Amino acid sequence: MKVLITGGAGFIGFRLAQKLVERKVLTAPSGQIEPIDEIVLFDVGQAGEIDQSDSIKITRVAGDISDRATVSGLVDRDDMSIFHLASVVSGGGEKDFDLAVRVNLDGAMNVFEAARSRSGLQRVVMASSIAVFGGPHMPEVVGDTVKQGPQTTYGVTKAIGELLVNDYTRKGFFDGRCARLPTVIIRPGKPNAAASSFVSGVFREPLNGVDFKLPVPVETVMQVVGYRAIVDGLIHLHETDGSQIGVDRALMLRGYTVSAQDMIDALQRVAGDRKLGKITVEPDPFIVAICKTWPRDASYKRAEALGFPCDSGLDEVIAYFIEDYVGD
Ligand SMILES: NC(=O)c1ccc[n+]([C@@H]2O[C@H](COP(=O)([O-])OP(=O)(O)OC[C@H]3O[C@@H](n4cnc5c(N)ncnc54)[C@H](O)[C@@H]3O)[C@@H](O)[C@H]2O)c1
Repeated sequence: MKVLITGGAGFIGFRLAQKLVERKVLTAPSGQIEPIDEIVLFDVGQAGEIDQSDSIKITRVAGDISDRATVSGLVDRDDMSIFHLASVVSGGGEKDFDLAVRVNLDGAMNVFEAARSRSGLQRVVMASSIAVFGGPHMPEVVGDTVKQGPQTTYGVTKAIGELLVNDYTRKGFFDGRCARLPTVIIRPGKPNAAASSFVSGVFREPLNGVDFKLPVPVETVMQVVGYRAIVDGLIHLHETDGSQIGVDRALMLRGYTVSAQDMIDALQRVAGDRKLGKITVEPDPFIVAICKTWPRDASYKRAEALGFPCDSGLDEVIAYFIEDYVGD
């Protein structure tokens, strides 16, 4: 079978591809576990074949998710699964409404229509976000059954995507699932346009010996989880039997609540003798305003009942980030 990962050059998409190469198999539209023979990483930017791992052909395809013909050309087999991760992220979406709508809504529709055009029920896993929550009626603790009330354009596009996945699945056009992700840490490389970018930066920059300005007060709380658990969670969501998910195809993937102070404390604990860059607190009103729209706590009952993975906390994530990206 073939696997298409949109946003395949991104933080989560690329790690997901690596995990699928190790795993080698997925449940195909036939309902049977089948070997993966092709993985396509679709993203803006570079194209070309990047690896021939045993029996899996891995290709980077460059293009724009909002171009329907391009996306439909990627979904060229019936025996396919799609992980739809391509997205404008939260801060970027707030700064450019038209871009967010074009990439996140038109792009999602292109993926959905491409999957619908094939025979058989392709599994489509879309990355959503807890940014679907917000607004004056948001409770202290959000969860699978809490009403969506997004207060960013990004969150609105994710909420619409979730509803569309429910309906395309109900109509029997494909077998869709949405993963509502908390903030995923620790992103390697450079900061991105997400309002939550600092949640990775507060670990990454000091570990690389770079001073870091924390753009929120240390009491700020958020839901986080490590990237290994999220990659495993996306695969678990793909593999979960649709009858166990039911008609509401959007699930909160497990995370936990931490404050910015918890992050600083954990970093100092795990870093041991490493020389860290200095952290100073310099609130940025744009970031602080977006953080105020985030839920303070969350419950992950459905994901827990369905056996989704979660890591043990910040210390574990910092330790494996050092192993994967920082070294000695
Ligand atoms: N990382 C997080 O904390 C987090 C939290 C909640 C939800 N999510 C969601 O998970 C998914 C993956 O997140 P990530 O952290 O890997 O983000 P990322 O920014 O690293 O990856 C997204 C990818 O989408 C690509 N993309 C953007 N516009 C495109 C276009 N027009 N055509 C094709 N590709 C395009 C980008 O180039 C990027 O590589 C996204 O849908 C994101 O909204 C992430």
